[in-house]
Amino acid sequence: MKKFYVTTAIDYVNAPPHLGHAYEKVCADVMRRFKRAKGFDTFFSTGVDEHSLNVYRQAKDEGISPMEYCNRMVPMFVNSWESLNIEYDRFIRTTDDNHIKSVRHLLQKIYDKGDIYMDKYKGWYCVSCEAYLQESELVDGKCPVHNKKAEWFEEDNYFFRLSKYADKLLEHIEKHNGFILPTTRENEIVNIIKNGLLDISISRASEGWGIKLPFDENQIIYVWIDALTNYMSAAGYSDNNKLFNKYWPANLHIIGKDITRFHSIIWPAMLMSGGLTLPERIYAHGFMTIDGKKMSKTGNNFIAPDEIVGLAGSDAVRYFVMREMPFGDDMDFTWSRFWGKYNSDLANDFGNLVSRTFSMVDKYAGGKVPKFEAAEDIDINYMESIKRPDTDYFKQMENCQFALALNTVWEIVAKANRYVEETKPWRLNKTPLAAARLGCVLLNLLESLRIISSYSYPFMPVSSEKVWRALGMDEDIKEKAFAKVNEWEILEKGRELVAPGMLFPRKDIK
Ligand code: MSP
Repeated sequence: MKKFYVTTAIDYVNAPPHLGHAYEKVCADVMRRFKRAKGFDTFFSTGVDEHSLNVYRQAKDEGISPMEYCNRMVPMFVNSWESLNIEYDRFIRTTDDNHIKSVRHLLQKIYDKGDIYMDKYKGWYCVSCEAYLQESELVDGKCPVHNKKAEWFEEDNYFFRLSKYADKLLEHIEKHNGFILPTTRENEIVNIIKNGLLDISISRASEGWGIKLPFDENQIIYVWIDALTNYMSAAGYSDNNKLFNKYWPANLHIIGKDITRFHSIIWPAMLMSGGLTLPERIYAHGFMTIDGKKMSKTGNNFIAPDEIVGLAGSDAVRYFVMREMPFGDDMDFTWSRFWGKYNSDLANDFGNLVSRTFSMVDKYAGGKVPKFEAAEDIDINYMESIKRPDTDYFKQMENCQFALALNTVWEIVAKANRYVEETKPWRLNKTPLAAARLGCVLLNLLESLRIISSYSYPFMPVSSEKVWRALGMDEDIKEKAFAKVNEWEILEKGRELVAPGMLFPRKDIK
């Protein structure tokens, strides 16, 4: 059995998660469900990044320990992902014992290799980026991303010989097609490397909290070096060899475009130095804004994932973010766009197709899967156009082109709705000759719903499974969604069906 290991970035805990963070977790969940249904042995990790300076300072302001602060924040992430049906295997916290062990283990290996040395660091630091910035990157002394004053740091730090790996990184990117998606991001990374890499500081001697360096307990490990290692800790590095040997390397790191450099330069170089295999692919997605503004962690520009799920249901939220966020690009969220898509795509196109198909089967076929008796060209052509082994869907899914894959599925939904309009089953019922064909039309619609529910399963697991079960499919959709997706007449003839009920009730968007 082939394996597939997918990860998300781990979120900073100093503010609750918003819809932008949720989007990334949905991407990973969709991918894992897709791969599992294709027969892969899958593993999915997500979690939180706790050792940031922001956490340390906020806890201090409140007079509590950083750990107490994190313990208070973590349930917000866990609950949000649960509300969205994110089925991860490991929720990693960077304060977990096995992660601490992993990070120290890896750093010792890099140190033993001779890739770490002590030097003096002087420079501007943005606490929100948790990164040093060049003087030239500052705007009025502020970090351009967070619009906050950069702080001057000066201390003895340990450095990692990143510069040593420039050529090896370029070679790796060249040899591995699609290592970084989309290609525009890969080109950016290649340019950065070609312009020359500087060694990076990987420890802190001053304020903060974190994991101690194994070879100098007076210094704590830079939070990004700590956080990146989570991908290996989550899969058992340093404490579960069996798990680690099975799932490492990760097949896909899903991250936001703002952190591509950390993942495509620093992380692979660390792995090369530690003698470990590199991940297969890094997908850098775009950013979500709200009403044209940056998503914030509080106030009007904040959308809590579990609240929007409370309003529309998890499948609708998952569908919307996956359908509307273009591959690698940004997307602006507005409530009117959200409810507009909900009503048009889910309540009308999808929900209506399901409810009218089941109600016609009930009315004209006694609620049972009809037999195939007579068909016309239009019915045969229709069937051929739906069960297409050459569908773009699989390729799009493999390449993280989720919005395109959903377009492909909704083309089938539209075709099925057009087929209803063209064949007018309610008229076929009128004469005995036409009635023979009615069975075929209804069967075609039921088989279409089966195929649609297969394809939509990774995106909308709850409603897809409801449709699948209502069609009398006994196999588990989780594992078998794609097993018969190119076949027809799979539904058991004569089987009594029970409609799945209203999936997406129309919403008044005023
Ligand atoms: N802790 C680091 C990641 C370490 S991974 C080894 C971090 N945390 S974060 O909380 O700032 O962001 C977590 C993820 O959410 C990142 O991939 C980031 O790009 C993504 N997003 C944050 N805001 C987002 C949007 N508005 N839209 C889409 N994704 C967003 O970076």
